[in-house]
Amino acid sequence: MGAGIALVGSVSALQPVSVCNEQLSSRVDTNDAWIRSRTGIAARRIAGPGETLTSLATAAAQAALEQAGWDAEDLDLILLATSSPDDLFGTAPRVQGAIGARQAAAFDLTAACSGFLFALITAGQYIRGGTVGRALVIGADQLSRWIDWDDRSTCVLFGDGAAAVAVEACEEPRNGLLGFKMHSDGRRADCLSLRQRDDHVPLLEGHSSQKGGFETIHMNGQEVYKFAVREVPAVLQELLNSTGTTAEQLDWLLLHQANQRILDAVADRFAIPHERVLSNLARYGNTSAATIPLMLDEAVRDGRVRPGDLIASSGFGAGLSWGAALLRWGGPGGARAPAAPG
Ligand code: ACO
Repeated sequence: MGAGIALVGSVSALQPVSVCNEQLSSRVDTNDAWIRSRTGIAARRIAGPGETLTSLATAAAQAALEQAGWDAEDLDLILLATSSPDDLFGTAPRVQGAIGARQAAAFDLTAACSGFLFALITAGQYIRGGTVGRALVIGADQLSRWIDWDDRSTCVLFGDGAAAVAVEACEEPRNGLLGFKMHSDGRRADCLSLRQRDDHVPLLEGHSSQKGGFETIHMNGQEVYKFAVREVPAVLQELLNSTGTTAEQLDWLLLHQANQRILDAVADRFAIPHERVLSNLARYGNTSAATIPLMLDEAVRDGRVRPGDLIASSGFGAGLSWGAALLRWGGPGGARAPAAPG
C-alpha cells in the first residue's frame, strides 16, 4: 500500500425536523434577532421519536459506502466520532453491524467538536501504518438529548446530524491529509461540560454506589468564545508553518460550525475572503462532531469544493480540545490531486 490517505467520498444524514428560531422562542425566552446576531444560527435539526444516533450514523455510513462504490466487506475500520452515543459501550459496532461491514473493527472516539478531525487523523495513522486499507470516518451527534431546553444560553446553539467520509490508502500524489496538529487542555474542562451526575444508590451499610446518568450541557460561552478566537488561529498558523503553506494557497477554510462570529474572526486573522469560508451554521447550528463532514459534504455536492482543492480545517470545543488538518479533497473515483504545497 502507498503512504497516503485519500478522501474519496462524503455523505450527510440530517434529521428531517427543522426547528427555527421563532419556534424556539415560543419555548424559551429568546428571539430570532438575538440568536442570528450573536451566532448566525437561524434553524437546527432535532431528532424525533424513533431517530437515534445509530440510525443517523448508519444512514450516513451506508450512503458513503455507496458513493465510494465500496462493498461493506471491503472496510477495515469504522471510527465514529461522537459525544452522544446510544450505548456507552460503543455505538460504532452497532453501525458496523447494521451496514454488514463484517471485516471492520469499529469503535467510538470522543473529542466533542474536535471529534471528527481527531478521528480522521487517527484513521490516517492506521492507514499510513499499513494495517488499514479502507475506513469510514463518521461524525455524528444528537446533543438535543443533553440540552436543558430552559437554558437559553445553550439550547439555541446545538442541533443533531451525522456525516461520513470514506478514506483509503493511496500513493503519495493522491494524499489528502497533508498535515495536522492536535491539542487538549483538561485544566479548562469545566468551560464546557456534560458531566456524570453525582447521584448514588445505597448498596451496603455505610456504602453507596454511583448511579449512572448525566447532567445537561453546561457552558461558559464567553470563555469558550475567547478560547476559540485565540487557539484556532494559533493552531492554523502552526499547521501552515509545518506544511510550508500560506493562507493565500488555501481554497477553503473549513472550521467547526459553532458561531459565525468565530468563523469571521478567524478568516480576518488570515485575511481570507469570507466567500472562501465554508458555513452552513444558519441552517444546522452546532452539530458538534458532525459539523465538519456535514459542511464538507454540502460543499462537495454543490460543486464549491472540487477534486484537488486545498482545505484548512480546524475543530475546537469541549475538553478543551482543538486541532487542525490540511486536507486535499480527492473525490469519488480518487481524482488525482496536484502535489502537496511546500
Ligand atoms: N436569547 C436572548 N438573550 C440571551 C440568550 C438568548 N438565547 N442567551 C443569552 N442571552 C442574554 C444573556 O442573559 C445576557 O443578558 P444580560 O446582559 O441581561 O445578562 C446577554 O444575552 C449576553 O449574554 P452573553 O453570554 O454575554 O452573550 P455572548 O455575546 O457571549 O453570546 C454565545 C453567547 C453565543 C454563547 C457566545 O458566547 C458563543 O458563541 N460562545 C462560544 C460557544 C462555542 O463556540 N461553543 C463551541 C464548542 S461546542 C462543543 O464543543 C460541544
